[in-house]
Amino acid sequence: MPREAIAIASDHAGFEVKEALKKLLLEAGYDVADLGTDDLESVDYPDFADAMAKALADGGAARGVLICGTGIGISIAANRHRHIRAARCCDATDARLAREHNDANVLVLGSRTSGPETASDCVRMFLDTGFEGGRHQRRIDKMS
Ligand code: RB5
Repeated sequence: MPREAIAIASDHAGFEVKEALKKLLLEAGYDVADLGTDDLESVDYPDFADAMAKALADGGAARGVLICGTGIGISIAANRHRHIRAARCCDATDARLAREHNDANVLVLGSRTSGPETASDCVRMFLDTGFEGGRHQRRIDKMS
């Protein structure tokens, strides 16, 4: 069975967390589609949210992880795309409920607000949790 690809992208503020999470994803057996940025030079987070939206629309990946300093800017930008349900998560409970209730397809983290262990816990929980469907599907349909 082919390995699932997870798309990941960040701005400069999230670059170091992105690199650490790439390692975690590869060790967990996923393929990683790294959409940048590639270093600490200042960039604009909407460009990376747009790259994530394109990767998910093209089918290169079904799920993704975005990181900026707070996770706020990049989640606002990502959620402007109708097919994206980006959830900024601060802990594993957020990540679990974002999957169970919201069928989030993009996990968003803040490099300045979540430490490395919390970020890793969020990624694991996000990827390991399924959508509950039922009444939650009806609500999602209203946004689609
Ligand atoms: C970049 O300095 C910073 O504004 C960005 O990473 C993010 O926190 C915006 O929401």
